[in-house]
Amino acid sequence: MQVFYSINTLQDYLKVQRKKGKSLGFVPTMGALHEGHLSLIEASKAENDLTICSIFINPTQFNNSQDLAVYPRTLEADCEMLETVKCDVLFAPNAHDMYPTLPNLKFDFGDLERVLEGKFRPGHFNGVGIVVSKLFNIVQPNSAYFGQKDLQQCAIIKRLVIDLSYNLKLNICPTQREKDGLAMSSRNKNLTPEQRKNAPEIFNALQKAIELLKIKKPASAVKGFITSHLDNIEGIEVEYFEISDFETLQPVNELSERKTALCIAAFMGKTRLIDNVIV
Ligand code: PAF
Repeated sequence: MQVFYSINTLQDYLKVQRKKGKSLGFVPTMGALHEGHLSLIEASKAENDLTICSIFINPTQFNNSQDLAVYPRTLEADCEMLETVKCDVLFAPNAHDMYPTLPNLKFDFGDLERVLEGKFRPGHFNGVGIVVSKLFNIVQPNSAYFGQKDLQQCAIIKRLVIDLSYNLKLNICPTQREKDGLAMSSRNKNLTPEQRKNAPEIFNALQKAIELLKIKKPASAVKGFITSHLDNIEGIEVEYFEISDFETLQPVNELSERKTALCIAAFMGKTRLIDNVIV
């Protein structure tokens, strides 16, 4: 695997590859890689000549400095994992190269960011918009790969690609889960053994919510039931549980012909986990 730490050297290398006619698949990450990330690398490798993974813990998307401080940093282990799936290129820029000065750019994704993560993490999607546009400009991939676990991020990036006319194919890949159902996440590394034991209850609750909606229980009742059920489990504190239209992410009252997303964020101690399922 070729490793690049600077924007210029990566761009020089990719220019040559593009000239050779190679298609470029791109998997942006913040490191602390797990099987979920590797499945994105594999999806990219299946469709492209060259796969580039970036690892950059983007400060502009953390609205909480404590969250940024405890975000797992495991570059050496990440490199080893990338080697196991034969990732071609790792781009691991430092913060100064990415942000010589902090940008004053402001992205506003409208209603799409006033709900769910956007509502509880003000400024988060502005930071995601800034870094993903920068990374797309730097790498200029033919295809980019994101995980469905970050459903709202995927919706925001879809808009970004349309609004800024990025000439790339966006691929949203299924959430990878541990055997007990817990969605794979870099943040799982921060769970204590006790928290890890109870964490699958979040996915179990989403499954229960689907059952209730399918027997026509109103969304408000399902939300109340699921939230209090989870809050009663040792160590889990729900931040939000929403039943939303899959496209617009606005709340809905019941299942309909359109796809519906059940989205949740919950704290286990200081660790914040998110998950979603689509019906
Ligand atoms: O999903 C992530 O890991 C990050 O939000 C992303 C897309 C790499 C931007 O920093």
